[in-house]
Amino acid sequence: MQNRKLGSQGLSVSAIGLGCMGMSDFYGSSEEKTNLAVLAAALEQGVTFWDTADMYGPWTNEELLGRFFRQHPGARDKVKLATKFANMRNAGGEFLGVNGRPDYVKSACDASLRRLGVEHIDLYYQHRVDPQVPIEETVGAMAELVAAGKVRYLGLSEASARTLRRASSVHPITALQSEYSLWSRSVEAEILPTCRELGIGFVAYSPLGRGFLTGAIRSRADLEASDWRLNNPRFAEENFQLNLQLVALVEQLAAARGCTPAQYALAWLLSQDQRIVAIPGTRSEQRIAENAGAAALVLDGAELERLDSALAGIEVHGSRYPKAAVSLLEGDTPELG
Ligand SMILES: NC(=O)c1ccc[n+]([C@@H]2O[C@H](COP(=O)([O-])OP(=O)(O)OC[C@H]3O[C@@H](n4cnc5c(N)ncnc54)[C@H](OP(=O)(O)O)[C@@H]3O)[C@@H](O)[C@H]2O)c1
Repeated sequence: MQNRKLGSQGLSVSAIGLGCMGMSDFYGSSEEKTNLAVLAAALEQGVTFWDTADMYGPWTNEELLGRFFRQHPGARDKVKLATKFANMRNAGGEFLGVNGRPDYVKSACDASLRRLGVEHIDLYYQHRVDPQVPIEETVGAMAELVAAGKVRYLGLSEASARTLRRASSVHPITALQSEYSLWSRSVEAEILPTCRELGIGFVAYSPLGRGFLTGAIRSRADLEASDWRLNNPRFAEENFQLNLQLVALVEQLAAARGCTPAQYALAWLLSQDQRIVAIPGTRSEQRIAENAGAAALVLDGAELERLDSALAGIEVHGSRYPKAAVSLLEGDTPELG
């Protein structure tokens, strides 16, 4: 597994990381034993950049990682651990709003450290920007966590270019984590150039289009009734079949390269820029190895151009979030590409 530098402050992470969210939330049921085995497999494959958040579960995803670290002495030091605060939920999972107030930042961090059972968090993100609190105040509180040794590096998620600039004036921002994949490319217009200019690394979340781009999900019936994706416009009945056109293209290109569609989708991201890393989520040991394999696959300029021309003829149907969540996506264009 190759490592990549994130930002300009010295953080280096595996180019393919692991999104842990689906192990505890949003994508249907999972088993503790399997999740722990997947984490062990990730370590073995050098997939050591792990992504969680307090709101996944809520809270149980961080607790899962905490149990893994307790059961595997020495594992913590091999992992670059990222978590997030700001999206508040109650125990029933109901969304309570975004909170970027300094006092909350500090208490959320202490709670995450406790659940994870670690002394520090490597990369601490604000999950969504709080429109009620100036970003300078939130990042000021995050900077105090760095000074206190509780956090090593700072990040934001789904923040606009303007917010990135303002945040960076308070403390270096090491990474922006936003959605980026073959069917979600809106960050290319303004966000990625701003990250480049400010020396901010980019972490692509949902790099497999929440699983859709892999071709493994062929219809809505493949998803459990509790699966959040059933409420995502791109997975809606009227859009699902239309969006399979894009999957067919990825499958065709992957076959030509002798790789899987998931590997192709991840390699496409890594080939955009050396400062980009991807954090695919999986609950499968086999897929850990498969996804890790994408780091060895390079798409050259000519191939990327051919792909762009092919993509230009394919429309993505549906926005990437349901209406209620859209207002929280600060950095996005109106069409939510
Ligand atoms: N900052 C944010 O607001 C935000 C939002 C969303 C997600 N995230 C982070 O990003 C991470 C990744 O995003 P994501 O989980 O939403 O989407 P993703 O990585 O695009 O897709 C995950 C889905 O793809 C499936 N999958 C994984 N590898 C596969 C393969 N090789 N072949 C076929 N299917 C495969 C997984 O199924 P199985 O689990 O069954 O393998 C799962 O259903 C999350 O875990 C989370 O940490 C952050």
